[in-house]
Amino acid sequence: MGQFASVGKQIGFVPTMGFLHEGHISLVRESVKENEITAASIFVNPTQFAAHEDLSNYPRNEKRDLELLESVGCDVVFIPQPNEIYPPGFQTYVLAEEITKILEGEFRPSHFKGVTTVVTILLNLSRCSNSYFGRKDAQQAAVLTRMVKDLYIPCTVHVCPIVRDSDGLAMSSRNVYLSEDERGEALTLYKSLKLAEELVMKGEKETQRIRAAMTGLYEKLRDYELQYIAFTEAETFTQIDEIEGGIPFYILIACRIGKTRLIDNFLLTV
Ligand code: PAF
Repeated sequence: MGQFASVGKQIGFVPTMGFLHEGHISLVRESVKENEITAASIFVNPTQFAAHEDLSNYPRNEKRDLELLESVGCDVVFIPQPNEIYPPGFQTYVLAEEITKILEGEFRPSHFKGVTTVVTILLNLSRCSNSYFGRKDAQQAAVLTRMVKDLYIPCTVHVCPIVRDSDGLAMSSRNVYLSEDERGEALTLYKSLKLAEELVMKGEKETQRIRAAMTGLYEKLRDYELQYIAFTEAETFTQIDEIEGGIPFYILIACRIGKTRLIDNFLLTV
């Protein structure tokens, strides 16, 4: 398999797992603005799913994805088969160490190794100068930014804002799994982040107190598992107990609603 876009022009690249929504499309729009050629990939990467996760039911709609990509000016779409990315004899993986041990890495232990490996392969194939990722997966974005820096991969990682439905629910391909009632309950992620933001803006600095107030909002839900509410410095992703003025930080949540695991976050500075 060779490179998949024309050489000699500045390429922007948007890797995706398909079933595209406005969040992905905003990344493509950004790339189209900033590059001569925009390439996207659609690849549901098996190595980032654990055995009990949703690889086999992951939502797919290739025809609609291709129409959407074309409508916003994407020039090249790469849709490899698993055995093209991982041919027989494949045995080389990329692993970021410390940053993948916490939060998502704790609940999905092999996940980031799959992400860093496939993104390295895709960046190498695309020969892109710029790559675009959504901030909804804030830890993924931090891991990939670190990886590109550590390995001197000649590509800039751009991390773009979360796109939300009008009521605040962060767009995700997995929202399609939610029943109507569950979708209502899923809004608690956004509501609890809004509550946290309000407390922070009123001067609360202790993350433990903010977490306790946020947790209270989940107690009336029917079927949920709040996996974490975490506070991290935005750049290093180290966890913080106290909010410091002038330093950007994330408030991050992972919560299962019914059978669907959702994540969301706010990036704040006070
Ligand atoms: O964020 C995603 O959709 C995936 O993790 C990515 C970056 C396309 C790698 O498979």
